[in-house]
Amino acid sequence: MDLILMGLPGVGKGTQAGTISEEYRIPHISTGDMFRAAIKNETELGIKAKRYLDEGELVPDEVTIGIVRERLGEEDCAKGFLLDGFPRTIPQAEALEGILSDLSRSLDFVINIEVPKETLIKRLAGRRVSPTSGETYHVDYNPPKTDGICDVDGSKLIQRDDDKPEMVKKRLEVNIEQTQPLIDFYNQKGYLRNIDGDQQIDHVHGDIVQLLEGLQ
Ligand code: AP5
Ligand code: ZN
Repeated sequence: MDLILMGLPGVGKGTQAGTISEEYRIPHISTGDMFRAAIKNETELGIKAKRYLDEGELVPDEVTIGIVRERLGEEDCAKGFLLDGFPRTIPQAEALEGILSDLSRSLDFVINIEVPKETLIKRLAGRRVSPTSGETYHVDYNPPKTDGICDVDGSKLIQRDDDKPEMVKKRLEVNIEQTQPLIDFYNQKGYLRNIDGDQQIDHVHGDIVQLLEGLQ
């Protein structure tokens, strides 16, 4: 199953990708997570990406395309993948077509999660993550069992740097501009499936599963 999960910051891509990837046993590939890990480990990629994430801007296409090309060529992607947050621009979408064609495969669906902007601002403001595992919570909508502590790894939860209010505004602006052309691109090719993301987490999950069951 070769899938893309797309949508604006905070629609729930990471949240949904976590469970779908476990249930369907396909790797969850989040370019945002890859950049954050590289920044934490101070790798060459991290040094290149840091200033873009700090500014809420997109990392240049050639850098982003390079890491996805490499990742999709890895063995665990042979049976499928779930891309989260890639592609985000038309050049990235075109490059992905080339990468998949080199691997003799093609997309099944592009799942576009839709949520109103006002809801996204609340979701991003209340998000808390584990600095160790990246496990994601929300102070109101998806709280951990113990306040401020990750259920899975026991770490003290933190706020992502780019979830500070001024950064959220910037990220939404940058992403809104890029999203419509991408929606049109995948709609024309017949891959696009819209999912209502403005429902409880398990209901959104149910809708995605219903869509994927048609593929089995
Ligand atoms: P990335 O990490 O991908 O950030 P993003 O797109 O801004 O998306 P988020 O991770 O913020 O949101 P999400 O949709 O995963 O929501 P989540 O599930 O966490 O990218 C970060 C940066 O990396 C970019 O700004 C850019 O610089 C760079 N980058 C990444 N990819 C790139 C690319 N392709 N090209 C160039 N640059 C790139 O949920 C959010 C919150 O809501 C959580 O608190 C969660 O608990 C809660 N929540 C989730 N679902 C629900 C629900 N149904 N109801 C209530 N609450 C919910
Ligand atoms: Zn995410």
